[in-house]
Amino acid sequence: MTRLLILKLGGSVVTHKDEYMSAHTENIKRLAKEIAEADSYPLIIVHGGGSFGHPVAKKHRIADGRVDESQIFGFSETHQAMVKLNGVIVDILLKAGIPAFAFSPSSMLHTIGKRLKELNTGLIKEYIDLGMVPVLYGDAVLDSEQTFAILSGDQLIIKLSNDLGANRVIFGLDVDGIFTDDPKLNPDAKLIETFSIGNIEANVGDTTHTDVTGGMRAKLSEATEAVKGGVKVIMVNAFEPERVKAALRGEKVIGTILTL
Ligand code: IPE
Repeated sequence: MTRLLILKLGGSVVTHKDEYMSAHTENIKRLAKEIAEADSYPLIIVHGGGSFGHPVAKKHRIADGRVDESQIFGFSETHQAMVKLNGVIVDILLKAGIPAFAFSPSSMLHTIGKRLKELNTGLIKEYIDLGMVPVLYGDAVLDSEQTFAILSGDQLIIKLSNDLGANRVIFGLDVDGIFTDDPKLNPDAKLIETFSIGNIEANVGDTTHTDVTGGMRAKLSEATEAVKGGVKVIMVNAFEPERVKAALRGEKVIGTILTL
């Protein structure tokens, strides 16, 4: 699908990260409006966990796999937290006129040693072909080595991008892109407009929040595969009006483009 766009809305963009299970409805509404106005299809949206999935997954140590019986309940609770957030997002997208369709990753895939090896994209493609916008998310999933795991939205979008042949992957973040230092801690940090993925081991600051799936460094190592496969990967600030819209339209925008 040569024109396919994949948009990741990070957990810090769709939730209030420091407020337990609080959706950032104001930001989601503005983003939904921008997505509708961009009118750029086919499109898949994947969102993160933020203050829904992460604290629950952490409490029950779901990412470490099965260690005791109490986690069975916690696994369900983690998934349910994501279902709730997904419901809020899909409702807002529908109201904005986007034919969003929720897909539960845990109902359609499992991981092997925390990695997503196989994904049946046939069904997703059928929905896209009908003009719908699949909305997936990072989820608590079954794992064939450690019983269960957390699949990050980042890992999921890269697999979707590779298997469906995306044209562009857009990461909507709570910062402008990749900086020379952590912009939340260092006011002199400069935005890197074109970032070579060969530099991942260089000083890429990690995020400080409760994040069971690994912050910016993990995001970059997931993105490496897509960049190598020729996909254009762009990171933009999804709190700044019009940037997600411009990125969806393929217009020049403040952010970071990843290159080899
Ligand atoms: C995590 O997904 C999902 C769960 C914790 C269940 P992500 O790793 O993609 O979430 P964010 O974007 O970092 O919040």
